[in-house]
Amino acid sequence: MKLSRREFGVGVSAAALATAYGRPGWAQAPIVIKYSHVVATDTPKGKGSLRFKELAEKYTAGKAKIEVYPNSSLYKDKEEIEALQLGAVQMLGPSTAKFAPLGAKEFEAMDLPFAFADDAAFQKTVKGELGKFLFDKLEPKGIKGLAFWDNGFHMVSANKPLLKPADFQGLKIRISGSKVADQYFRKLGSIPQILAFSEVYQALQTGVVDGCENTASNYLTQKFHEVQKHITMSYHAHLQYAVIVNSKYWTGLPADIRGPLDKAMAEATDYTNQIAVQENDDALKAIKDSGRSELHPLTAEQRKAWQVAMQPTWQWAEGRVGKEVIGIMQKAASS
Ligand code: LMR
Repeated sequence: MKLSRREFGVGVSAAALATAYGRPGWAQAPIVIKYSHVVATDTPKGKGSLRFKELAEKYTAGKAKIEVYPNSSLYKDKEEIEALQLGAVQMLGPSTAKFAPLGAKEFEAMDLPFAFADDAAFQKTVKGELGKFLFDKLEPKGIKGLAFWDNGFHMVSANKPLLKPADFQGLKIRISGSKVADQYFRKLGSIPQILAFSEVYQALQTGVVDGCENTASNYLTQKFHEVQKHITMSYHAHLQYAVIVNSKYWTGLPADIRGPLDKAMAEATDYTNQIAVQENDDALKAIKDSGRSELHPLTAEQRKAWQVAMQPTWQWAEGRVGKEVIGIMQKAASS
């Protein structure tokens, strides 16, 4: 869906808002920030965005109003990025696998298989040089990165058990957009297909695709486990988000608003990153208890075979994301 000029007009520029804000009679009108995302409220990102709303409205004493639109209720994956660029929404938290349309392929480095030992390693890595390096790539595109949010590691599913690389042969697997994910599924012999997140359930149900990858919290809240008989707890790649805003919009906000918003974002980020592991553990338990899908852990030997099969993705990725970002990520993840 293309955004019309009329919709574009809905996103009043920060400068206009700033002027209006200082004008008598307008003094009480809050600045409205629309935050669009595609997942359910009961997920790390869903909860994190609501925490941001709560803190931002508190710290600005109501001068900013945050409207959170979850579950693709305002825009789907591709459209929300277009909407941010046009000013129809002010804040997004897409998975970084969806950043190529922003001209920032480097973010896909974080999708490399078995790149992070655990969530702590991921969080430490993005807090350091990697986070800065990646956010610097967004600035020339007029986008500002505010924070990285964690959502744990991907599992993978189909209507048959996926225990060894050969089990993937010929399966159509939904991916969210990253060419790195496309590549590691190809290395397993499957056929990756990009679909918007909001279309995955139906695609699985009707057999448009055979399988998908995602975190436990997304499986549970989107009910993917109800249309996939087998889920492998492979944790083969990490799922992370970057909260982004339009740079011009953000820097144009009055200082007495932006400061409190930055503080609210820092605290909402800590909160989201603290709950990510537990949220996914709880979701995994709920999936298990539902009895709708059989969960398969990988043995050490099976995991090794997956690593070996996916490993060539790393070399392939040098041509896609560049050696520099991979180097920065590896140095941080292993220190
Ligand atoms: C997906 O599209 O699979 C996910 O990245 C959705 C999300 O934001 O977690």
